[in-house]
Formats: sequence, C-alpha cells, structure tokens
Amino acid sequence: MNLPEDALNQTNTHAELAQDHINNDRLQEAIAALARFGGRADGGVARETLTAIDLASRRYLIEQARALGCEVSIDDCANLFFRRPGNRPELPSVLTGSHGDTQPVGGKLDGAYGVLAGLEVIAALNDAGITTERAIDVVAWTNEEGSRFGPGAMGSSAYVESSRLAQYRTARDADGIFFGDALDNALAEVTDVPRRTMPQPHAACIELHIEQGPVLERAAIALGVVTGIQSVRWFTVTCTGTAAHAGTTPMDERGDAMAAAVGVAQQLYQQASRESVHQLRLTLGRWQVGPNSINTIPGRVSFSVDMRCGDEAVVERFEHTLRALLHNATWRGSMSVERIFMRPPTRFPESMLTLIEQGCTRAGNAAPLRLTSGAFHDAMYLAEHCPTAMIFVPSKNGISHNAAEATDPHDLFLGVQALAYAVTALASR
Ligand code: GLV
Ligand code: MN
Ligand code: MN
Repeated sequence: MNLPEDALNQTNTHAELAQDHINNDRLQEAIAALARFGGRADGGVARETLTAIDLASRRYLIEQARALGCEVSIDDCANLFFRRPGNRPELPSVLTGSHGDTQPVGGKLDGAYGVLAGLEVIAALNDAGITTERAIDVVAWTNEEGSRFGPGAMGSSAYVESSRLAQYRTARDADGIFFGDALDNALAEVTDVPRRTMPQPHAACIELHIEQGPVLERAAIALGVVTGIQSVRWFTVTCTGTAAHAGTTPMDERGDAMAAAVGVAQQLYQQASRESVHQLRLTLGRWQVGPNSINTIPGRVSFSVDMRCGDEAVVERFEHTLRALLHNATWRGSMSVERIFMRPPTRFPESMLTLIEQGCTRAGNAAPLRLTSGAFHDAMYLAEHCPTAMIFVPSKNGISHNAAEATDPHDLFLGVQALAYAVTALASR
C-alpha cells in the first residue's frame, strides 16, 4: 500500500503512540485474572474447550471487552470477536487474538496471552486517544487445542471455510459428547451477544503467542518474527484383538491388543530417530485401553499419532512408514488407522514479516530473531484468508502444554508492544 507522506507519518506516529501506551501492570493483572478460570494449585490451568469453566471465562472476557467499549459478537463456531470500531466502517478490519482454551493441563499463557494482548492494545489505543481508520477485531478462537475434540484449530478453520463446521459438529469427546452439542450449549449461554457471519474480510491478521520451544531463550532474544509453521498430521491407530483372562490364557494364544500396539509404537520411534536429521517430531500422546482392567488382556487399544516436520515430504514419507508397519504386523488381531488432521507448512508473507520486525525492533531496542513455529496456531488458517503473521516471545526452559509454562513478564510486555505497533500501523492504513 503506497501512502502519501503525511498519511505515512501519521501511521507511524499512531503505531508508536499505541506501543508507548501499553501498560505492563494492566497486562500482567489481566493474565493473572484469566488464569483463575481453571487455575490449579500447581500454577497450571485446566480450561479445555467449551467446558463450564471455559464458558465462564468467555463471559468474563465479554465483560472486559464491553468495559473497553468494544462491540462483542460471536459466530456459529462460538468464536468471540471484540471490535474497536475505526473511522471507516466500510474497510476490512485488522484481526488479532488467539484462543482461550487450554490443554487438559496447560499454562496461563498458551492462547490466553494473545487474546489478552489484543485487549491491551485496545486499552492502549483508548488511553492514547487514537481512532484508527480500520476497525480492530480481537478474537478468541474456539478449540485451538484439539485435546477435547479433534482436530485442533477448529474455530479458525471453520471461520475461513464454514463448510468444515458440519463435520466438526460430529466430533465426540472422551465422554461421548458431540462438539455440536457443546457448541449449541455455549451459544445458548450468550444470547445477549449478536451473531456474526463467517468469514468476514480482514485487511490482515497478527497472532501473538509464546514460542513454546527453546529457540528464543537459547538465543537470548526477547522477540521472534515467525516466518511460518511446520507441517502436521494426526492419526488414530486402533488395534483390535481379544479380551481374555490374564491368568489362564497361554502367552502364545493371545490376541493382546496392547502387545501389538506397543510393538508398533516401538518401531515408530525407531523409524522416527532415522528421520531426526530432518527434525521429524513424533508423539504418541493419547492411549485408550479396553477394557482397561488389571486382569484382563486388552482387547482393544487405540493411540494417537502426532507427526510434524518443516519438510512436508518427510511427513508424507513417515505416513507411508506408519501405514506399512500396520499392514505388515502379524498377530491374532487387526489394526486400522484413521488420519484425522493434516496441514502442510504455512509461510507468512514477507510484507507482514517486515512490518512485525519494525514493531519488534522498536519495542525491544534490538533486532528480533526470525524462526519457524514448531506448534500449530490459528494463524495457519487465517493465512489462507488474509495477510497473516505471528510474533513470539520466549518460553522459560522451552516448556509448554505443562503447568510450568512461563515467560519473563518483561518479555510478555515487549511482545504486546510489538503487537500494538504492527496492529495500529495496519489499522491506520
Ligand atoms: C497446538 O497446541 C499444537 O499442538 O501445536
Ligand atoms: Mn496456542
Ligand atoms: Mn497449545
């Protein structure tokens, strides 16, 4: 976008003013307040998507946003939008935010930080007395984590392609509850919030997030410009044998689904270590055992497979490896595999990276680091929809999806300053 010099100067001034009005105390208080919804004695947060505690936290966010003067709306996937209007309602808005849900036990920051950062940017603009040309929408996406209902990033992916929602509604959690029913329940809780259509056009989208890995901390750099997101695929493997008595059934006559599953798992880990030069990451995170009794041979075992790599060809090869292992397994039972999620690598546009770099450099008084995201994020779907990018701040010991997840408060502050600069610059154009 080419702007006349006066407009350019004003864009820069507004971006700088917004950045300088970020209030660190208010930000830290907001993080602590949201973490009370699902807060645990060990410092972690348990707020899986669309649970009662998640719904309570959504109500809290709605009230906070209304107090800042935002227009609140919600879409058919219960994604919550907090809008600060601009001077020109006919222009597409600038979108920022992240997700409010957590892993079964997560930290205070994964997702929550990006949502609260967006609200802090709005508070800073209010304090600075700036009205931007474009509206700013802060979003809290539904079910980014994918731990209760698979796949992950449901809200953002349904937002950019609403036909996905019908399939998502049929997903069930471990108690057999349908995502569709949990969604209807969530929507029924907020009848005071107007419904909005999805998708809507956006001029750009920026998601601020903790890195959740060790790269920034090891480089001793406070701010990261995320160039893209690595490829990910999820599967469910199911081994079906014969449940039988643990004491009486001879070892060589068993259809032991656990023995079969463990055998496949071990071979997968071995194959994964052969791909370590390509940084392939393999996680077998969820196991379900039937009948799950100490003295019955497991008749059915299913486990999840999460594979990720920056190189899509490696993930493709590893999927073939998985399928071949299952096909060649010989035992008194059967094995099946279902792919439940796949996403190729995401690359964010250079124009967005350059702008974010400016915001980070001014906030941190130093050049930020460019890096690829190991975790997936809602931004990976928004990248299909509008120019999108992400900012990272370091994670202590690189740890996340864990109660011990933490980031130095000053780094959190710098991240929001960088976000304020970039969002305000975009909304002023
Ligand atoms: C998101 O939580 C991911 O699994 O990358
Ligand atoms: Mn996240
Ligand atoms: Mn997460």
